[in-house]
Amino acid sequence: MMKRDRPKVVVLRVIPDVALSRLEKRYVVDVNRSGHVLTRQQLVRRVKGAAAIVSLLTDTINEEVVVAAGDNLKIVANYAVGYDNIDLPALERHGVVATNTPGQLTDSVAEHSLALLLAVARRITEGDRYVRSGSYTQWEPMMLWGQTLLGKTVGIVGGGRIGSAFATMCHNAFHMRVLYSDIAASSTLERETGAKRVALTELLRRSDVVSIHCPLLPSTKHLVSHKELAHMKPSAILLNTARGPVVDEQALVRALREKKLFGAGLDVFEFEPKLVAGLRGISTVVMTPHIGSATHEAREMMARIAATNIEEVLQGRSASNPVTKYAKPINSLDN
Ligand code: GLV
Ligand code: GLV
Repeated sequence: MMKRDRPKVVVLRVIPDVALSRLEKRYVVDVNRSGHVLTRQQLVRRVKGAAAIVSLLTDTINEEVVVAAGDNLKIVANYAVGYDNIDLPALERHGVVATNTPGQLTDSVAEHSLALLLAVARRITEGDRYVRSGSYTQWEPMMLWGQTLLGKTVGIVGGGRIGSAFATMCHNAFHMRVLYSDIAASSTLERETGAKRVALTELLRRSDVVSIHCPLLPSTKHLVSHKELAHMKPSAILLNTARGPVVDEQALVRALREKKLFGAGLDVFEFEPKLVAGLRGISTVVMTPHIGSATHEAREMMARIAATNIEEVLQGRSASNPVTKYAKPINSLDN
């Protein structure tokens, strides 16, 4: 094929080379190497003529973008498992397929939830700051007490792949009892951990650890707010490695300040990358910059999956990882 006849693939940020070099063999690949998320205007200009777009969770892909790309557009391959940044009905109207990158990332995110859990439960970041600051001058019998996890109860909000993997880790490592709440039952989760499906209120009341693993949907925005936090034990830990807006961050700040919770581990934020006022100053919260899937293994595999889906669709086959389920994105990441 002549170069100008080759389909164009627009990649909205630099992703691992395993994918880029593979795509470059067949397509004209235009990668945004600016190091920045494209503004709305830049995005609309950049996608013109694209047959495929590799989008990131920081790119809102809506009607305007699809129209700007034009009739060549066949697929938007999201380099993420979550796809609340994509307006699926808009893509559907134009016959454009959306795909995500599940699989390898599951354990990576579950392990990150576990890392946050241990960091909060054993006050690792507080201890680290204490040692670094030179404050550690003598051993203290009553200092930096945490929470033992052995035999406690973990409540999983969203019993899908990642929630189930995290629950299994907690169960196997710490013999934790597992509760979960989800619109659907998970026989795998129940079989592997003896998990019981309960209503969210009951889960919040009974759990020592509450971990969020549901997608962001209109129905899950602020799923955990003032009322829900009030149900939790003062010794409990809240974890969120899913999507920030599932937790009302202002309500969380208040609960943590008033010691209604032991602590929180957050990899995602309601107004990411901004934090709500007050969060930064709370020592019992451990925060990471949305790196749940950021392992060599997961990110490389995600890149391969995105490339595979593009090759499949542009060769007229069906994509391995199509997403069609959720009605509407609810967050606006427009910039
Ligand atoms: C990351 O947040 C993802 O959805 O993959
Ligand atoms: C602590 O270091 C202990 O020996 O109990």
